[in-house]
Amino acid sequence: MANLKSALTIADLKEMARRRVPKMFFEYADSGALSEQTYRANESDFEKILFRQRVARKLSNRSLKSAMIGQEVSMPLALAPTGMTGFQHANGEMLAAKAAEDFGVPFVLSTMSICSIEDVKSVTTKPFWFQLYVMRDRGFVKSLLDRARDAGCSALVLTMDLQVLAQRHKDLRNGLSAPPKFIPKHLWQMATRPGWCLGMATTRRHGFGNIIGHAKGVGDLGSLSEWTAKQFDLELSWDDVDWIKDYWGGKLIIKGVLDVVDAKHAVDTGADALIVSNHGGRQLDGAWSSIRALPHIVEAVGEDIEVHMDGGIRSGVDIARAIALGAKGTYIGRPFLYGLGAGGEAGVKRVLDILYAELDMTMALGGERDIADFGAHNIASIEF
Ligand code: GLV
Repeated sequence: MANLKSALTIADLKEMARRRVPKMFFEYADSGALSEQTYRANESDFEKILFRQRVARKLSNRSLKSAMIGQEVSMPLALAPTGMTGFQHANGEMLAAKAAEDFGVPFVLSTMSICSIEDVKSVTTKPFWFQLYVMRDRGFVKSLLDRARDAGCSALVLTMDLQVLAQRHKDLRNGLSAPPKFIPKHLWQMATRPGWCLGMATTRRHGFGNIIGHAKGVGDLGSLSEWTAKQFDLELSWDDVDWIKDYWGGKLIIKGVLDVVDAKHAVDTGADALIVSNHGGRQLDGAWSSIRALPHIVEAVGEDIEVHMDGGIRSGVDIARAIALGAKGTYIGRPFLYGLGAGGEAGVKRVLDILYAELDMTMALGGERDIADFGAHNIASIEF
């Protein structure tokens, strides 16, 4: 087990994960579309937002407690839905969900998870959130919604930016298909990661748990790969959001909004929140970073809908920047996957501890003691 306490930053955990997770899965997480320009900008644009340093402000009894869509959170952060999390570490989604629950932040389970909705339900005591990809097989979409409702999921996160899957060169070079088909190169990559293999040997969860055995005609990985390519709905429109919202009947969050026009459509659906997101730089290469788009979206619709953001957060300092620019909630994808790969549930907890401490420190040195008071007045300059 990696010495998690020696990890002081998300970058430290990323390097630990690189050494523990087979290359094809580590790089599946650590990849962006095409040139990865937007993936890089998501991270680097945060540094263009500079704080005002304030002194002699009373700083005892500080609080990061907040709410996202009316649900209390220990800090304004959630674990984003990420595909194949159970290949970063055996039972990955179950472990991450437990770490999030213990910490008091939401966990969002991806449709394309390895552990199923029911698996995650079996190890948690509080509601988690479920992310949906809209597939052509509407019967299957409804059955996923039924299962998420039965599991007590307290929000649906509807992803709008993946009707077409962008090319990620690393995945092609690694021969990673979704779902994975194992070839000799992969066996070698796995053999050099014995801890990971031991973990995987102790679980039966090696495929897409929400899909295999649930979607018609999908019994094994071979047939699933054909099915996935055929299933993502190219005709998805805002009208579909209406029936999904009605059928779901609970809180709804629209994920993947980067443009003001789309933000207004999201408001018209009556959703509870939208997530300013470019899918972690994994979809439209050359798009704006999420943090750059955020203030525009907040200005356009911030009074009408709760605005959240994801993409590029690598520290609590970045969370503070997003909050100052008007986000009511933020999400991390890769950072928690690095923690998970590095050390399972304890690794995710370490990530949350690091981010919490950094956010608290930034808020305090910026002169506030309640995250609710951290805002535009804490920003000195923005150099986009
Ligand atoms: C799926 O959501 C992916 O980005 O790979």
